[in-house]
Amino acid sequence: MIFREPEPSADIVQRFFSGTGASYDQIVNLCTIGFDSLWKKRILSQIPQGSIRILDQACGTGILTLKIAQKYPSSQIIGVDITEEYLSIAKCKAEERGFNNVELILGKAEEILLDCAFDCITSSYLAKYADLGSLIANARSMLRDGGSLIIHDFTYPANQTFALVWEFYFKVLQTIGKQCYPEWKTVFYELPGFLRKARWVSQLVKTLETNRFVNITVEYLTLGTSAIVTAKRA
Ligand SMILES: C[S@@+](CC[C@H](N)C(=O)[O-])C[C@H]1O[C@@H](n2cnc3c(N)ncnc32)[C@H](O)[C@@H]1O
Repeated sequence: MIFREPEPSADIVQRFFSGTGASYDQIVNLCTIGFDSLWKKRILSQIPQGSIRILDQACGTGILTLKIAQKYPSSQIIGVDITEEYLSIAKCKAEERGFNNVELILGKAEEILLDCAFDCITSSYLAKYADLGSLIANARSMLRDGGSLIIHDFTYPANQTFALVWEFYFKVLQTIGKQCYPEWKTVFYELPGFLRKARWVSQLVKTLETNRFVNITVEYLTLGTSAIVTAKRA
């Protein structure tokens, strides 16, 4: 029997996201059939009113970061992302739209420790790639007492019928999607396998408990194709 070492997540992130930044906003909207926008609205609604310092980890091209900045114009929003190509798109958008409450930092979410006493830390589509141990330990140090953590990502549907539809949908992306967006071929082929194996929700809940977070909630969205986990720093 051959045992394959799991691929380091940094390599996966590099393969998924180099050369895909320019079409990311279109792809995330098309491939989730617009649900990404609803999921981000749900994340926004979970950010406690009056949050002044908000960190958006793996901010990518800034879709969520700029929505937060728009909703909370007097707050300070910091976005962090490991992929320069994505971050520079976020920077251009922030500049073009005249946001002066947004700062964007290049770096790995698990390694960037900011001394800000954040009211809230968000992320969308980071958890499945992340080293949850260091991510959550750092989130604990960066949040103020009572600060909120909101983590969203894709999940594999638990219901068998929905899982079949989900599998079929990826087959469509692998045939038609790759013709229209060849730069996304690797993601269309590899993301399904990655998500089938991902256990980020249960691992995250355990890690939050170990780090003494409280009020932990898990909300599955859109037939179990994504989930939002929220928690508070005790
Ligand atoms: C699918 S995009 C999501 C972007 C954005 N959060 C959104 O919802 O539109 C995933 C992003 O995660 C970033 N990323 C993945 N692992 C990371 C890590 N460990 N630290 C920081 N960024 C990371 C990638 O560079 C990419 O920009």
